[in-house]
Amino acid sequence: MRVTILSDVYAGIPFQLIAGVKAEYGFSAYIESSKLNILFDTGLSGDVALENAEKLGICLCPDYIVLSHGHSDHTGGLPKVLEKFKVPVVAHPEAFEPKFAMVNGVLKEIGMPLSRPEIENKVRVISTRVPLKLSEEVWFSGEIPRKWGPSHTGLVYKVDPERGAIQDEVKDDSALYIKTPKGLFVVTGCGHAGVENIVEYGLQVTGESKLYGILGGLHLLGASEERVKDVAKYLASKNPEIVVPTHCTGQRAQYLLAKELGDAYREGGPGVSVELP
Ligand SMILES: [Fe+2]
Ligand SMILES: [Fe+2]
Repeated sequence: MRVTILSDVYAGIPFQLIAGVKAEYGFSAYIESSKLNILFDTGLSGDVALENAEKLGICLCPDYIVLSHGHSDHTGGLPKVLEKFKVPVVAHPEAFEPKFAMVNGVLKEIGMPLSRPEIENKVRVISTRVPLKLSEEVWFSGEIPRKWGPSHTGLVYKVDPERGAIQDEVKDDSALYIKTPKGLFVVTGCGHAGVENIVEYGLQVTGESKLYGILGGLHLLGASEERVKDVAKYLASKNPEIVVPTHCTGQRAQYLLAKELGDAYREGGPGVSVELP
């Protein structure tokens, strides 16, 4: 099984420059195996993920499009992607709800570009709050309980019919859990649910006792140094072999994670690939 980042925020490593892949403020990854292929998130534009796959020589043939949550940096590419692939879309039910960010005191819409009925006109939608087994080795997490650590939501909002704009806990934030012979491998989108929660729930869902690796957004942009250090210490305590913190992890957090995790730390970005055992 192989996990490749197709859309990400920064393409600065020499091989990325040589391959000519593009960056954008988004996230998308492709999970390939002989049994199951998954497009996890679509990036902001869709074009970047699709064009990068082509440049990387990856022939996309997903069985599912899995959405980590509703924010547009992960779902903005849906219209482009659904033109190409008529496969089921898997997401938490709240991923389809309107979502907002506060920009200069004004609420800006940052939800999916298509409504749930518009998506259902094209393909089947599978929405679930509970874990969904997509194959023998792969689970969609559904809603991740927040009982092992803090979540990371920031200045994001949803509209409550009675109370108006309220803080969005991003309950839809979900992950992919992959069981490998060396333990659990986690693919996150933004990581709003909080790293400890995402990992511990993954161990519970898959029945694994060891964390083999994690790739994706850990949403530590704007987090305090203390919080970043806690995350680094937590991850180090799980002794993973591969940690690819990218997208909304933030450069300061990446630096501190690299320091704490040593050889397990790997730089993310479009084109970065991890071969799973
Ligand atoms: Fe994000
Ligand atoms: Fe997000």
